[in-house]
Amino acid sequence: MNLLIMGPPGAGKGSQAAKIISAYGIPHISTGDMFREAIKSGTPLGLEAKRYIDAGELVPDEVTNGIVKERLQQADCRKGFLLDGYPRTINQAVALDEMLHTLGKKIDAVLNMECSEETIIKRIAGRRICQQCGATYHILNHPPKVENVCDRCGGALYQRKDDNPDTVKNRLEVYYKQTAPLIEYYRSKGNLIMLDGNLEIDELFIDVKRILDGLK
Ligand code: AP5
Repeated sequence: MNLLIMGPPGAGKGSQAAKIISAYGIPHISTGDMFREAIKSGTPLGLEAKRYIDAGELVPDEVTNGIVKERLQQADCRKGFLLDGYPRTINQAVALDEMLHTLGKKIDAVLNMECSEETIIKRIAGRRICQQCGATYHILNHPPKVENVCDRCGGALYQRKDDNPDTVKNRLEVYYKQTAPLIEYYRSKGNLIMLDGNLEIDELFIDVKRILDGLK
């Protein structure tokens, strides 16, 4: 199964993605995670990406298209994949169509999460991430058993630098201007599925699973 998950920052894409990859055994390709990993390792890609991410702007299309193209060619993507946070511009969507055409693949479904701005702001403000394994928590909705300690690996939890209120405001503006037009792009291709991102994580996953099981 070749899937895309889209939606505004903090809508819960990564939280649903974690459940989807575990249930369907496909790799999770999150451009945000790839950039954060590169920043952590101090690579040239990380140094370039950091200035855009910290400002809540998009990393340039040619950089992002390049890392996705390379990733989609890896062996584990033969059985399918879940793209999360990519594409984010019409240019990226067109580049993805070309990559998939070359690889002889197509997207089976585009999952688009809708979520109110009020909910997004609360979710981002309470998000905490494990420094070691990347697991995501929320101080109210999905707290760890021990404060600031990851349930899964015992790593320390931190707050993303781009999760501060000013950067979130800009991320939302960038989303409405540059990414929201993709909803019509995929609607016109006929494989868009709208999801209610305001639902709780497990409640929404019941809907997602029913939809994806129907595709098999
Ligand atoms: P990226 O990492 O993709 O961030 P984002 O799209 O802003 O999305 P988030 O990771 O903030 O949120 P999410 O929707 O995954 O929510 P989550 O599940 O964590 O991108 C970061 C930056 O990288 C971009 O700003 C850009 O600079 C750059 N970048 C990335 N891709 C790019 C691209 N293609 N082109 C150019 N630049 C790119 O949930 C949020 C919180 O809410 C968590 O605490 C969670 O526990 C909680 N929660 C989630 N779902 C629920 C629910 N249903 N009910 C209750 N709580 C919930």
